[in-house]
Amino acid sequence: MFPILEARLLATAVKQFKIAAPEIAKKRKPGQFIVLRIHEEGERIPLTIADADAEAGTITLIFQEVGKSTEQLGKLKAGDTVSDLIGPLGVPTHIEKYGTVVCVGGGIGIAPVYPIAKAMREAGNTVISIIGARTKNLLILEEEMARVSHSLKVSTDDGSYGYHGFVSDILQDIIDEGMTINLVVAIGPVPMMRVVCNVTKNHKIKTVVSLNPIMVDATGMCGACRVTVGGRTRFVCVDGPEFDGHEVNFAELVKRQRAYLNQEKLSLETFRHQGGACMGGIS
Ligand code: FAD
Ligand code: FES
Ligand code: MG
Repeated sequence: MFPILEARLLATAVKQFKIAAPEIAKKRKPGQFIVLRIHEEGERIPLTIADADAEAGTITLIFQEVGKSTEQLGKLKAGDTVSDLIGPLGVPTHIEKYGTVVCVGGGIGIAPVYPIAKAMREAGNTVISIIGARTKNLLILEEEMARVSHSLKVSTDDGSYGYHGFVSDILQDIIDEGMTINLVVAIGPVPMMRVVCNVTKNHKIKTVVSLNPIMVDATGMCGACRVTVGGRTRFVCVDGPEFDGHEVNFAELVKRQRAYLNQEKLSLETFRHQGGACMGGIS
């Protein structure tokens, strides 16, 4: 059992949990994730380790309520527990002194970008960050990102805060201004990562993306998280989650992410119908 020590609402339907998990807190590196089960019959959901405190023995998770399991998780409070946490999983981000690194985070993707921006800064890079959300109420970690970045630019799709437009527009502007960029790290919804990669490909700027396919076992055995990168099949849980964005087959990723939409909808409806407290059933 893993106790939730703090539970905070960060933005509309976006929650931040601090959970006691000393072994994971000690070992985790930027770019890694855990797999969580709320209770013994719950499904396994992967979430990025947004931050950790090895001394306090805690990890921080930030999640958006998008379906049954995340909605059920969001109902937990400080003092509650989750039954299982495995991790740290995945290959850590390759951190080195590149020069200038642009960290781009869209929506809930800002959560995984944050530890990477922090580590890139600690490695001596100049960190320019661009974060964006659909609207102001969905924007997270602005203060934290400002703290770890030399410069932070913010956009909203609807213009309710910051630049009116997309993070990729800001990136294009920075490139057009002639700044030398040695690496771009982009994490967010697939369409955002795809557009960022199109922008950087034209300028031959190395771009790393973090992929979020459906995962089941997260140990490389089941094949659920299969993606195609550079024409080769890769398993995101053990070979990723980060890959060269210019090589990713994004169309296939989107198709596979949407493979169980009907079952997910039914699962959420059943959960809500049962008053949001069901522990078993379709998970
Ligand atoms: P559902 O209604 O079941 O699904 C909604 C959508 O989420 C689906 O259409 C599908 O595309 C995706 N999804 C469903 N089940 C899974 C699954 N088992 N594994 C992965 N995706 C799934 N989300 C966050 O909010 N914060 C994070 O830090 C975060 N980090 C992630 C790191 C990795 C490596 C991966 C692969 C995913 C991450 N996600 C993160 C996405 C998160 O796992 C899904 O939003 C969650 O599993 C949805 O579960 P659900 O039952 O609430 O929604
Ligand atoms: Fe099963 Fe990656 S989740 S192989
Ligand atoms: Mg689900």
